[in-house]
Order: sequence, then structure tokens, then C-alpha cells
Amino acid sequence: MYRRIVILTGAGISAESGIQTFRDQDGLWEQHHIEDVATPEGYARDRELVERFYNLRWQDLHRDDIAPNAAHVALAKLEREFDGEVLLVTQNVDNLHELAGSKRLLHMHGELMKGRCPQSQQTFNLKEMFGPDNVCTCCIPAERLRPHIVWFGEMPFGMDTIHHALDECDLFIAIGTSGTVYPAAGFVDIANHRCAQTVEVNLMPADSHSQFQYHFTGKAGEIVPQLVDSILAGEVVG
Ligand code: NAD
Ligand code: APR
Repeated sequence: MYRRIVILTGAGISAESGIQTFRDQDGLWEQHHIEDVATPEGYARDRELVERFYNLRWQDLHRDDIAPNAAHVALAKLEREFDGEVLLVTQNVDNLHELAGSKRLLHMHGELMKGRCPQSQQTFNLKEMFGPDNVCTCCIPAERLRPHIVWFGEMPFGMDTIHHALDECDLFIAIGTSGTVYPAAGFVDIANHRCAQTVEVNLMPADSHSQFQYHFTGKAGEIVPQLVDSILAGEVVG
């Protein structure tokens, strides 16, 4: 059956875990200006404002009721039990895929739990939220760590690995992403060019909906476990 699978997740896979998405009703981009909190220019203009934004998201992620949902758990099971290759690429900066057990995971937009030295680009696991105490240990004098987040205008991480995996894959599944932000929104085109089967899992048609061959409309927490079980049973998705 399938030998190489690439999975792309977006904010929608964490929605059922209680984490706000960006563009749904009451999403993050309805409450904050992207140019103020998600661009290098915004950070240079008002570092404290950006740190407050990420500290709010940090507090959100550390709420007692936040946990991986059935979709995260199913993707970790696929990685464990599938006898081919699975690459999980996430646009999310939360750590729910890790908490669910996924290991072959690529955070193309960075990770909220890490800070990055603006000089050396070295990353550090954060023990606490962003603030003056979060400094690097690689420079003298120590530099204040920035959020290890890819902002608009910056290059996402891992693009060579992602493109190589997309060129080789026979199944591409996008879960809970609006398909509005490039380069992630263009991954389906690469997979289609590779003649892979392309599948969209979303509550509603994403911007890139027409590029997918198959669509499962509904909650990721309900659809993804079923999809994983059928793949592990050797069934064709479409
Ligand atoms: P962008 O991702 O919105 O746009 C990317 C580029 O694709 C732009 O040049 C845009 O003109 C182009 N584009 C948009 N729609 C297109 C289409 N339909 N066809 C072809 N091209 C299209 O902005 P960006 O500045 O490129 O963002 C860079 C990266 O930073 C993106 O991957 C983005 O997801 C990421 N990012 C992360 C965060 C975060 O909080 N983690 C926030 C913002 C952006
Ligand atoms: N199950 C499946 N899909 C869902 C669910 C759910 N329970 N809840 C929401 N969705 C879908 C929405 O229909 C929407 O298409 O998830 C998508 C969320 O879209 P966005 O909020 O735009 O999030 P995302 O696609 O991850 O944004 C991409 O933009 O701002 C940047 O870097 C940021 O990584 C982010 C990128």
C-alpha cells in the first residue's frame, strides 16, 4: 500500500484541545494585528508587546485543561505502527504533537516553548515565559532571547526536508489548515505533481480545497483516528 506519507497540520488540529486558531471566528488574528505581533518589524518596534502576545499564548498552552486530542494521538500511533515512512510537518507552535508521542516531527513555524538567540540563532528550551531573564548562554554579553517563532517575512524551517519528502510521497494529508499562508499552502501542488494521493481534513473547505483529490469534512478529532486506522489496515484512502 502506501510507503511514504507526508502530513501537514495547522491550528485546526489543536482547536479541540482548546487552543485558538488564527482565522476562525474569534481567532487570534481578529484580536491582534499580525504586523504588530508576528513580524520582525513589529518586534523591533515594540518588543514588550510581542513578548506579551507570546506570553499570553504560553499561559494558554500551560492551562491544566490543555492536552493532545484524539487527532494528535492517532498521528503518533500512525508513526509507531506504519511500516513505511511518515513525516509530520506542523505549522503549529504548540507542543501537543510531542505530548501525544510524535517524534518524526518538523515545526516549520518554530516552537513557542523555545527561545532563540538573535545573534547565534541557537535555540534554548524556555523554563519560563519571555522576559528580561530569558538570555542566551552563547554570547558575551548575553543576548535577550527572541521567540523561536517564524514571523511573516521570515523563512520557515526545514524546507529542504519537506520538499524532499513531498517529492517522494505517495500520500499527502493536510489537517486543520486554512491553506492561506505560503509556502505550506503550496505543498498540495507539489504532492499532486508527484501523483501522490492528496487529502484534506477540515471543518470547511480551505482556500486550497480545489487542489485536493479527496476531502473529509468534519472534526479532526473524529476523522483522523478513522483515517489512521484505515491506512494501517492497508486500505486506500480515496
Ligand atoms: P505569507 O505566508 O502570508 O505569504 C507568503 C508569500 O506567498 C507571500 O509572498 C505571498 O504574496 C505569497 N502568496 C500568498 N498567496 C499566494 C498564492 N495564492 N499563490 C502564490 N503565492 C501566494 O507571508 P510570509 O511573509 O511569506 O510568511 C513567511 C512564513 O512565516 C510563512 O510560512 C508564515 O506561515 C510564517 N508565519 C508564522 C507566524 C507564526 O506566528 N508562527 C506568523 C506569521 C507568519
Ligand atoms: N477540525 C478540523 N479543522 C478545523 C477544526 C477542527 N476541529 N477547527 C478549525 N479547523 C480548521 C478551520 O476550518 C481552518 O481552515 O482549521 C483551519 C485553521 O486555519 P488558521 O486559523 O488559518 O490556521 P493555520 O492554517 O494553521 O494558519 C497557518 O498562518 O498566521 C500564520 O503561522 C501562522 O501557522 C499559522 C499559519
